[in-house]
Amino acid sequence: MATEGIDPVTTSDYVRIFDTTLRDGEQSPGATMNVAEKVAIARQLERLNVDVIEAGFAASSDGDFESVRRVAETVTTPIVLSLARTRELDVDRALKAVEGARNPGIHIFIATSDIHLKYKLLMNREEVLTSAVWAVERASKHMSHVEFSCEDASRSDWDYMVSLLREVVAAGATVINLPDTTGHAIPEEYGRMFTYIRERVPGAGKVRWSAHCHNDLGLAVANSLAAIQNGVRQIECTINGIGERAGNTSMEEVVMALRTRKDLFGIESRVETRQIYPASRLLCQVIGWPVPPNKPIVGDNAFAHEAGIHQDGVLKHKLTYEIMKPEEVGIPSNKLVLGKHSGRHAFVDRLGQLGVDAAAIDVNKAFAEFKALCDKKKVVYDDDILALVTEESRRRGDFYELADLSVSSSNSSPPRAEIVMRVGGEERRSAATGDGMVDACYKAIYQLAGVHPVLERYAVKAITGGTDALGEVSCLVRHNGMTVPGQGAHSDIVMASALALINALNRLKSALRRNPEQLGEEGP
Ligand code: KIV
Ligand code: ZN
Repeated sequence: MATEGIDPVTTSDYVRIFDTTLRDGEQSPGATMNVAEKVAIARQLERLNVDVIEAGFAASSDGDFESVRRVAETVTTPIVLSLARTRELDVDRALKAVEGARNPGIHIFIATSDIHLKYKLLMNREEVLTSAVWAVERASKHMSHVEFSCEDASRSDWDYMVSLLREVVAAGATVINLPDTTGHAIPEEYGRMFTYIRERVPGAGKVRWSAHCHNDLGLAVANSLAAIQNGVRQIECTINGIGERAGNTSMEEVVMALRTRKDLFGIESRVETRQIYPASRLLCQVIGWPVPPNKPIVGDNAFAHEAGIHQDGVLKHKLTYEIMKPEEVGIPSNKLVLGKHSGRHAFVDRLGQLGVDAAAIDVNKAFAEFKALCDKKKVVYDDDILALVTEESRRRGDFYELADLSVSSSNSSPPRAEIVMRVGGEERRSAATGDGMVDACYKAIYQLAGVHPVLERYAVKAITGGTDALGEVSCLVRHNGMTVPGQGAHSDIVMASALALINALNRLKSALRRNPEQLGEEGP
């Protein structure tokens, strides 16, 4: 058994949080983010004080390369890394993309399960081992932070992983990750795998062990916690648990489990928990997906007590039914914020509390829009302000811009929309009739943009209550095999619908411009 060297179980007094919202999270269908959105999320991750940001997969496309590069240049405290396969091009692109980071890193992976070797990689075990060692050696010549992952570790042969990791650690890997790629593991078994392997890999005590779980059986958080109980000191996770298929380990759940049950785990993360709720809201705004009301920690009902007995208990003493305080995770005690008499200073102050970086937005414009909203709505909530600011930054630098929209509908004539749009800076007009006002408006937009994608999803949500609420529309459009989301927020629902479609068309335009390299079956 190899147990020499420093053992992170006893020397590391915190669990490192590795956030992969911008990489694995973005792989959720419809969660694509543009560069500006990724930078905004990265800034919030820095406020959260996560230890590592996986900013993307630099070799997968020019757009991903650019996102990793921009995130690397933006944040200062966290380690910023890019994912890479064990190929020369991948490793070199990843190293290049993080060049500007204060704390750069690289994350190299290759599958180790027989099923992946046989059907996906068409390689034998020896070839996989050689390829892994080659890539880690190449990266560690240029970088001190080199993470290596055995993809599909939870379905791989444990003794084969021991023999491979022995070489990979000797080649210079500083973090070893054993992912439950398919969400197949059960907590006791997943934890035991770490102990088995850590006890057999020479130098295991000098590297940090990492868990990366998927939620296919709803066990991602439980598996991650079991890994911590078996010596793991890094958890890979995403805000709101977004990610491939059923998602990844939810950052807020794992962080709060460690904090709330410190009596049991004896160890915590360094996350600034009051930034959790702002992070969750920001992500919802960016990708246009709400979290379910019963989602632990950040759902609308997570701290709501409905039953009479519970309410009575909480009124007598909060500890009767509350294991965490909403303030601990940054849920504002009073979500009702500003009104028409609020000044610019109070507005900027509130933006800061909501996790919005005032330096990164046009504050004058946002304040003017806020004032306009106050004239339309009696009360303006935090979520209204977040929607308004996100809508503003969403539209910046767009190829297609909405200049004007008017719609009419009556019992005697079909709904009709007239639209004025700037296309690449040039003003164009169009009109169309349709089955409803949104349908008419969408037809007019398609005419002006010269494309007619398939509308796969269209959903409307009132951001806050009341008929004067800001409406948020999210849509998903498919064109030429590419699927992109769009979001729009406005107090007029037809306007919000138009903004959402135009947002999707802008994403489509830049996705087509980037002409991404196809990853085929070997992508993560
Ligand atoms: O789930 C997985 O195995 C991954 C790896 C690329 C780390 O995302
Ligand atoms: Zn994953």
